[in-house]
Amino acid sequence: AATTRYEAELSPATCDGTIDSNHAGFSGSGFCNATNAIGAAAQFTVSAAMAGTATIGIRYANGTTTARPADVMVNGVTVQSSPFDGTGAWTTWVTRTVTISVRSGANVVRLSPTTAGGLPNVDFLDY
Ligand code: GCU
Repeated sequence: AATTRYEAELSPATCDGTIDSNHAGFSGSGFCNATNAIGAAAQFTVSAAMAGTATIGIRYANGTTTARPADVMVNGVTVQSSPFDGTGAWTTWVTRTVTISVRSGANVVRLSPTTAGGLPNVDFLDY
Protein backbone atom coordinates (compact mmCIF):
# COMPACT_ATOMS: atom_id res chain seq x y z
CA ALA A 1 0.00 0.00 0.00
CA ALA A 2 1.05 3.61 -0.39
CA THR A 3 3.03 5.23 2.37
CA THR A 4 1.49 8.04 4.37
CA ARG A 5 3.82 10.50 6.06
CA TYR A 6 2.82 11.74 9.48
CA GLU A 7 4.82 14.82 10.39
CA ALA A 8 5.77 15.20 14.04
CA GLU A 9 4.85 18.89 13.96
CA LEU A 10 1.32 18.36 12.64
CA SER A 11 -1.81 17.44 14.51
CA PRO A 12 -2.79 14.79 15.48
CA ALA A 13 0.86 14.15 16.38
CA THR A 14 1.96 15.41 19.76
CA CYS A 15 5.39 16.35 21.10
CA ASP A 16 6.29 16.63 24.77
CA GLY A 17 8.62 19.52 24.05
CA THR A 18 9.00 22.07 21.27
CA ILE A 19 8.63 22.03 17.52
CA ASP A 20 11.94 23.30 16.23
CA SER A 21 13.37 24.04 12.79
CA ASN A 22 17.00 24.92 13.56
CA HIS A 23 18.65 21.76 12.20
CA ALA A 24 18.37 21.53 8.41
CA GLY A 25 17.27 18.50 6.50
CA PHE A 26 13.93 17.85 8.16
CA SER A 27 10.72 17.27 6.29
CA GLY A 28 7.78 19.63 6.51
CA SER A 29 7.97 22.70 8.73
CA GLY A 30 9.86 21.33 11.72
CA PHE A 31 10.58 18.43 14.02
CA CYS A 32 9.83 17.38 17.57
CA ASN A 33 12.52 18.29 20.07
CA ALA A 34 11.14 16.53 23.09
CA THR A 35 12.35 17.41 26.56
CA ASN A 36 15.45 15.54 27.70
CA ALA A 37 13.71 13.28 30.20
CA ILE A 38 12.42 9.75 30.62
CA GLY A 39 8.91 9.51 29.21
CA ALA A 40 8.96 12.80 27.28
CA ALA A 41 7.30 11.42 24.17
CA ALA A 42 6.47 11.97 20.54
CA GLN A 43 3.16 10.44 19.53
CA PHE A 44 1.55 9.72 16.19
CA THR A 45 -1.90 8.51 15.26
CA VAL A 46 -1.85 6.47 12.09
CA SER A 47 -4.73 5.06 10.10
CA ALA A 48 -4.63 1.42 9.07
CA ALA A 49 -6.86 0.12 6.30
CA MET A 50 -6.87 -3.33 7.89
CA ALA A 51 -5.49 -5.20 10.86
CA GLY A 52 -2.13 -6.87 10.42
CA THR A 53 1.55 -6.19 10.55
CA ALA A 54 3.06 -3.02 9.19
CA THR A 55 6.53 -1.59 8.87
CA ILE A 56 6.83 1.97 10.03
CA GLY A 57 9.73 4.31 9.36
CA ILE A 58 10.76 6.77 12.06
CA ARG A 59 13.00 9.57 10.85
CA TYR A 60 15.21 11.06 13.50
CA ALA A 61 18.50 12.77 14.23
CA ASN A 62 20.67 12.28 17.29
CA GLY A 63 23.68 14.56 17.24
CA THR A 64 25.17 13.05 20.36
CA THR A 65 27.36 9.97 20.60
CA THR A 66 25.00 8.36 23.08
CA ALA A 67 21.98 6.30 22.05
CA ARG A 68 18.57 7.62 23.01
CA PRO A 69 16.59 4.42 23.53
CA ALA A 70 12.82 4.57 23.52
CA ASP A 71 9.94 2.22 23.95
CA VAL A 72 7.79 1.92 20.86
CA MET A 73 4.25 1.71 22.18
CA VAL A 74 1.28 0.81 20.03
CA ASN A 75 -2.15 1.52 21.45
CA GLY A 76 -0.69 1.74 24.92
CA VAL A 77 1.36 -1.44 24.81
CA THR A 78 5.14 -1.46 24.54
CA VAL A 79 6.03 -3.67 21.62
CA GLN A 80 9.77 -3.11 21.46
CA SER A 81 12.61 -0.80 22.29
CA SER A 82 14.40 1.17 19.61
CA PRO A 83 17.96 2.34 20.33
CA PHE A 84 18.01 5.55 18.24
CA ASP A 85 21.78 5.56 18.01
CA GLY A 86 23.77 8.68 17.33
CA THR A 87 23.58 9.83 13.72
CA GLY A 88 26.72 11.98 13.79
CA ALA A 89 25.07 15.41 13.69
CA TRP A 90 21.74 17.04 14.45
CA THR A 91 21.45 17.71 10.71
CA THR A 92 21.98 14.05 9.82
CA TRP A 93 18.54 12.47 9.64
CA VAL A 94 18.07 8.73 9.29
CA THR A 95 15.03 6.52 9.09
CA ARG A 96 14.71 3.55 11.38
CA THR A 97 12.16 0.90 10.51
CA VAL A 98 10.14 -1.01 13.05
CA THR A 99 7.54 -3.72 12.39
CA ILE A 100 4.39 -3.46 14.45
CA SER A 101 0.95 -5.04 14.63
CA VAL A 102 -1.99 -2.76 14.05
CA ARG A 103 -5.74 -2.94 14.21
CA SER A 104 -8.06 -1.62 11.56
CA GLY A 105 -8.58 2.11 11.89
CA ALA A 106 -6.72 4.51 14.13
CA ASN A 107 -3.60 3.33 15.95
CA VAL A 108 -1.56 5.35 18.40
CA VAL A 109 2.20 4.96 18.07
CA ARG A 110 4.09 6.50 20.95
CA LEU A 111 7.85 6.83 21.28
CA SER A 112 8.62 6.98 24.98
CA PRO A 113 12.27 7.41 25.94
CA THR A 114 13.72 5.28 28.69
CA THR A 115 16.81 7.29 29.62
CA ALA A 116 17.33 10.82 30.91
CA GLY A 117 18.59 12.03 27.53
CA GLY A 118 15.08 11.63 26.21
CA LEU A 119 14.28 11.19 22.54
CA PRO A 120 16.37 12.11 19.56
CA ASN A 121 14.84 14.86 17.42
CA VAL A 122 11.94 13.22 15.56
CA ASP A 123 10.96 14.35 12.06
CA PHE A 124 8.17 12.08 10.93
CA LEU A 125 6.65 8.65 10.95
CA ASP A 126 5.99 6.88 7.64
CA TYR A 127 3.26 4.29 7.67
C1 GCU B 1 20.79 20.31 21.23
C2 GCU B 1 20.10 20.38 19.89
C3 GCU B 1 18.64 20.05 20.02
C4 GCU B 1 18.50 18.70 20.69
C5 GCU B 1 19.20 18.73 22.04
C6 GCU B 1 19.13 17.39 22.76
O1 GCU B 1 20.34 21.34 22.06
O2 GCU B 1 20.24 21.68 19.33
O3 GCU B 1 18.01 20.03 18.75
O4 GCU B 1 17.15 18.35 20.86
O5 GCU B 1 20.55 19.07 21.87
O6 GCU B 1 20.13 17.00 23.33
O7 GCU B 1 18.10 16.73 22.76
